[in-house]
Amino acid sequence: MSRPLLQLALDHTSLAAAQRDVALLRDHVDIVEAGTILCLSEGLNAVKALRAQCPDKLIVADWKVADAGETLAQQALDAGANWMTIICAAPLATIEKGHAAAQARGGEIQIELFGNWTFDDARDWYRTGVRQAIYHRGRDAQASGQQWGEEDLARMKALSDIGLELSVTGGLTPTDLPLFKAVNVKAFIAGRALSGAKDPQQTAGAFLAQIRDIWGS
Ligand code: 5RP
Repeated sequence: MSRPLLQLALDHTSLAAAQRDVALLRDHVDIVEAGTILCLSEGLNAVKALRAQCPDKLIVADWKVADAGETLAQQALDAGANWMTIICAAPLATIEKGHAAAQARGGEIQIELFGNWTFDDARDWYRTGVRQAIYHRGRDAQASGQQWGEEDLARMKALSDIGLELSVTGGLTPTDLPLFKAVNVKAFIAGRALSGAKDPQQTAGAFLAQIRDIWGS
């Protein structure tokens, strides 16, 4: 099992505020995400600005695309993203088109797992050539009391067995990470725990210390 990466999710409603957190945290994280909320607030410019601010980082455009996979993957990757997300409910044709456009630009598609999906869907995504998925506890589901449980861990393991690399997200804090010690995690994605912290760098350090303690350096 390789060491999971740490991804900063920027769900700010203002680009200036997001960029202040990036300046604080970019040296403490592996991946920077232009979050859905930021992109809906600031448009394509959010991805372009983050690429300019972080020329050497992996950048994710978390657009949760449901249609027009080719056009949107072209736009996201041409703006500077390495990876773009497509929602699991999207038709396979959208995933195929998005994947082809991302691949042509040296990038990748990540499937966002929210709500209803099946392992047959996951096998179909894998067959299109997609290799990444994001196991997600939505912020609204979290707010209404949804906890991580054994069923999540079993589903993560089954997705890994299909061949998908999994990132995990949804209200994560450093103390949650031991839960996932048996899972092959590509990246832990943290938004509010970092951006909302009194000391964001110290919280990033706590994530990294947990990752090091559990998965080694
Ligand atoms: C919401 C998202 C978030 O970017 C992701 O879940 C990380 O944010 P947080 O740690 O604040 O839950 O994709 O749809």
